[in-house]
Amino acid sequence: MTVDLEKILRPIETPLIKFPAKYMTLANGQEMVIRQVEREDIPDILPHIEPLIHCERDFYNVVAARLYAELLAYYSYRVQDEYVLIAQIDGELAAIVNGRIVSPEIGMSYHTFSLRRGLRVGAHAFATKMEYHMDILKQKEVLIVAESGIGFRRWMIEYKLEKRFDIPHELGGCPSWSLTKELFERARATLVVGRRPVPEHLMAKAKAGILAPSDPPKAPEDLLAATRSMLDSTGTSLIEMKKKLGAK
Ligand SMILES: CC(C)(COP(=O)(O)OP(=O)(O)OC[C@H]1O[C@@H](n2cnc3c(N)ncnc32)[C@H](O)[C@@H]1OP(=O)(O)O)[C@@H](O)C(=O)NCCC(=O)NCCS
Repeated sequence: MTVDLEKILRPIETPLIKFPAKYMTLANGQEMVIRQVEREDIPDILPHIEPLIHCERDFYNVVAARLYAELLAYYSYRVQDEYVLIAQIDGELAAIVNGRIVSPEIGMSYHTFSLRRGLRVGAHAFATKMEYHMDILKQKEVLIVAESGIGFRRWMIEYKLEKRFDIPHELGGCPSWSLTKELFERARATLVVGRRPVPEHLMAKAKAGILAPSDPPKAPEDLLAATRSMLDSTGTSLIEMKKKLGAK
């Protein structure tokens, strides 16, 4: 008897309502489209994440490595009920957010990844992901963690998330925080922005191709900045790293 192993390994997907695309005007006047992407789009996204696996700043390296794996798992049917949304400015990839559905009522937020700094594109993309869980999928709560201090400020502080430390998050088993429906409603007026429908010319530009970010995050010139971002104010890791590299 032959066994179709793929049928066993590949999870059966829960049919989910698709995210209706939206757009918003950024602080610099540019317009950003946020839309859902499908499996066939993933190969066009991965090359823009890969270089940041080596970017030792603001935890881009850890998040890029994890996000790359999550998108690859989605592409190869090795994760249950994942979705991926992307933000584009003039076609350029500006942010990626992803997550999954644990049950009809509970969502699991995976990552928020900004490829254009200083415009709150990550903050807007995160708010949009929460809108997807709450307004479109009608969930009651979303479990969240942050890898970076910036992420902590953006999610835990800005949304006043509740602790759910008894629940290990899927990202490394770290203690979870929760965005409840009530917290989302409180944040809606100030943090959730955007309009629908997306004008045809903006949508056409976005769908024409996922273009490379023209000003992606860069590793710091001075490695000390990297150690600071790892909360090592003494610079010990820089000294150790220099020793290893044979520098005087
Ligand atoms: C967390 C994250 C999504 C937030 O994205 P964002 O809302 O677009 O915000 P930015 O990262 O551009 O900026 C965050 C802060 O750093 C400052 N900043 C850092 N580098 C900057 C740069 N090169 N240019 C401009 N501002 C910069 C900004 O002024 C901003 O300050 P503020 O909080 O006072 O507004 C983004 O920093 C990111 O992708 N980080 C790496 C991955 C990560 O940690 N993800 C979250 C864990 S799930």
